[in-house]
Amino acid sequence: MKRAVAGCGMVLVAAALNVLLTPAARADCTEELRIMRNMLADVKDESRRQELQRLLEKAEKDERAGRDQLCDQAVQRAQLLLKKPPTRPDKIPGKGFTNPRRRAIVSLPSTRGGAGRPVRGNPGTMKLSVAKERRAQERRVAASPDTVKRLVGMGLEVVVESGAGAGSAFTDDAYKTAGAEIAGDAASALGAGDIVLKVQRPLRGGDGGVDELSLMKRGATLIGLLSPLQHRDDVEAYAKAGITTFAMELVPRITRAQAMDVLSSQANLAGYRAVLDAASEFGRAFPMMMTAAGTIPPTRVLVMGAGVAGLQAIATARRLGAVVSATDVRLAAKEQVESLGASFLTVDVEAMKAMETAGGYAKEMGEDFARRQREHVTEALRKIDIVICTALIPGRKAPVLITRDMVGVMRPGSVIVDLAVEQGGNVEGSAFGETVTTANGVAIIGHANVPSRIAVDASQLYAKNLLSFLGLIIDKEKHLKIDMADEIVKATLLTRDGAVVHPQLSAAPASAAGA
Ligand SMILES: NC(=O)c1ccc[n+]([C@@H]2O[C@H](COP(=O)([O-])OP(=O)(O)OC[C@H]3O[C@@H](n4cnc5c(N)ncnc54)[C@H](O)[C@@H]3O)[C@@H](O)[C@H]2O)c1
Repeated sequence: MKRAVAGCGMVLVAAALNVLLTPAARADCTEELRIMRNMLADVKDESRRQELQRLLEKAEKDERAGRDQLCDQAVQRAQLLLKKPPTRPDKIPGKGFTNPRRRAIVSLPSTRGGAGRPVRGNPGTMKLSVAKERRAQERRVAASPDTVKRLVGMGLEVVVESGAGAGSAFTDDAYKTAGAEIAGDAASALGAGDIVLKVQRPLRGGDGGVDELSLMKRGATLIGLLSPLQHRDDVEAYAKAGITTFAMELVPRITRAQAMDVLSSQANLAGYRAVLDAASEFGRAFPMMMTAAGTIPPTRVLVMGAGVAGLQAIATARRLGAVVSATDVRLAAKEQVESLGASFLTVDVEAMKAMETAGGYAKEMGEDFARRQREHVTEALRKIDIVICTALIPGRKAPVLITRDMVGVMRPGSVIVDLAVEQGGNVEGSAFGETVTTANGVAIIGHANVPSRIAVDASQLYAKNLLSFLGLIIDKEKHLKIDMADEIVKATLLTRDGAVVHPQLSAAPASAAGA
């Protein structure tokens, strides 16, 4: 575990520098190879099996040698071969038709409200459904045309609600071309899924509008950002409805789970977007400019909290030409900050050594440390133009790092972005979903759902995170396989067989998630 956390620092910095976008794709390729290898035994035709075997061996060899493109090509050829209509009779007893031309029109089994509308499909194949997100300010979607293509290539059926990708610029036609079936409404999309992929937790009766949970069939599996620690009543409702649920924000931060780490993929983009939001509110340029009309000094940016979002904010502000400093309670962050070319604002080295949990997260700071941090930061703020706040403590309210008095020392026209506003905020006076201008002319930005403000990329990465996760819970026969011996499965599973099974949900509400 220690090694994973230590290695992670490098991972975070590399991600901030954008040199690490390929490993997720690599992990997908590895996952597909694993699934296809498992499917080999099902291929009855000897010559086809041999050809597949040859392609998979080639893909593995290319992958080991780092020939990513060749590996992808071999995987794609193997997928095509798997999809080719079989020459033998195409009905497998108990599994239905494997040849798409002989697919039946079936009425989906449903024990719950309104979901039994006819959907084209193969009765033996597991169906994944992707519904339109209906919560306010949510533009993301849980599958992209790219991930749909990969899922269909693995032999799964995918149903996408019409318009689900609109907020992320993915059209119904793009999903159709990727092999999805388009469902006309929420009932037919949500009711079709053996596995339902969502970004946000489903709406329930009390939320107004469509009751998404009631449209899902009993026995279905739901995967999404379900905020289980904040919405325990929802978790009870999933159990009562007989839905198996996985919360993606609980994926442990271990090396093996990096390709499924939604917190990192979304925070990375949020850190980037926060700097752009600040830049568009700020009335000055970021880089130093020497012109005939005079010299413009560079903008000074302070980043508070140097985790995934903070490191990306540092890298983005540096790319724009700002002079950047940062602070964190974890001493491990110092080296990462400095490796990005920013300076680190140290409060107390000895105290900081004890501020990190075994899982790599921050502990809550004591009052003495908080006071000294405020003193250091107040001095810095007199010369700072932009502050990006990203500090969080897993499972708890965000720490207040900038008080009203501290905002008071900043110059008019300065900008603060409070990325922690949804968890209570790092800045006194920030407001969820609003930009507030203080009496001394400082703008405090509290945008809701920042990853959704960069929805195309956020959806692409989230969809890839889900694709990797699905590889963990779908077996070679394409059935759901819940292996409780697997650390990632165990950490994310909330409900099963009508009961809440996650240990943290039976603990006291204040228990931390990231210890
Ligand atoms: N193994 C992996 O693949 C992996 C991937 C991502 C992250 N991680 C681990 O998770 C850690 C946290 O990442 P995150 O971005 O999700 O964290 P986070 O979102 O929980 O917090 C953001 C940052 O705020 C800092 N913070 C908290 N209280 C603070 C305070 N009072 N003052 C200043 N800063 C404060 C935290 O130390 C953290 O760096 C990483 O540093 C890393 O160790 C591991």
